[in-house]
Amino acid sequence: MTATIIYGNQLAETLRVEMKEEIVNLKRKGIDPKLTVVLIGDHPASKSYVSGKQKAADYIGMDSELIQLPAETTEAELLSLIDQLNQDPAVDGILVQLPLPDHINEQLVIEAINPSKDVDGFHPINIGKMMTNQDTFLPCTPYGILTMLKLNDIDIAGKHAVVIGRSNIVGKPIGQLLLNENATVTYCHSKTANMKELVQLADIVIVAVGRARMIDGSYIKKGATVIDVGINRLDDGTLTGDVDFDSVKEQASYLTPVPKGVGPMTITMLLKNTIKAAINHAQK
Ligand code: GUN
Repeated sequence: MTATIIYGNQLAETLRVEMKEEIVNLKRKGIDPKLTVVLIGDHPASKSYVSGKQKAADYIGMDSELIQLPAETTEAELLSLIDQLNQDPAVDGILVQLPLPDHINEQLVIEAINPSKDVDGFHPINIGKMMTNQDTFLPCTPYGILTMLKLNDIDIAGKHAVVIGRSNIVGKPIGQLLLNENATVTYCHSKTANMKELVQLADIVIVAVGRARMIDGSYIKKGATVIDVGINRLDDGTLTGDVDFDSVKEQASYLTPVPKGVGPMTITMLLKNTIKAAINHAQK
């Protein structure tokens, strides 16, 4: 038996069609969600992510704006722009694409965004709400992963989830979301001594390390669900995940591909968060 492949792009398409309809209905009520994306410099991967976000917003009929600034933009200039966007009633969601150039303090920028417009879910207030299981903006990649698991009826409660990677954007929050869903969660990272033995215990494996094909079938318990968050470009230009797809698919019961897996879901959840922000703002 080989794994059922979870195509995030297909789920994303279904959700985007639903959101397109929701936007039409919201506009009838005078609610017009708007996302503003700020891109500093010309990091090639960031440019490509940002353009994916703009295209997805256009597709569902959501108003979006890209503010592109040179790499030399100062921290003060960026903070002043954020202040302006915080005060602009037309803007519902603000996303500052990371990473930022070294001369800008990323944490300061994240904390400058009004939590009610923080559609990335990176502000400490929103992280705190996520940790205490309150309604908030969930960070987009973890939110996308959780949605993929739920829409495929994959049991989470009582299962052992192993998260490989502890970044603020993916690893830490996905572990927390799985804990909120009553999984038993183990985090593995670069200092973990017995990673293979731990991963072999997992019913659900989330791999977010950024190393091409690091996890092969020998790590995976028969029947586990494996979510591959990695996007690695090989020397020949092809994209590959952190998971060795061919060997893992012989062990797993569910597996996400790269590309067409988690990536399209991340963007979709950003749109969902922006709609949520607009509804919240209209109720104020
Ligand atoms: N860079 C890589 N992933 C993300 C993300 O989810 N949000 C932002 N703002 N920057 C990123």
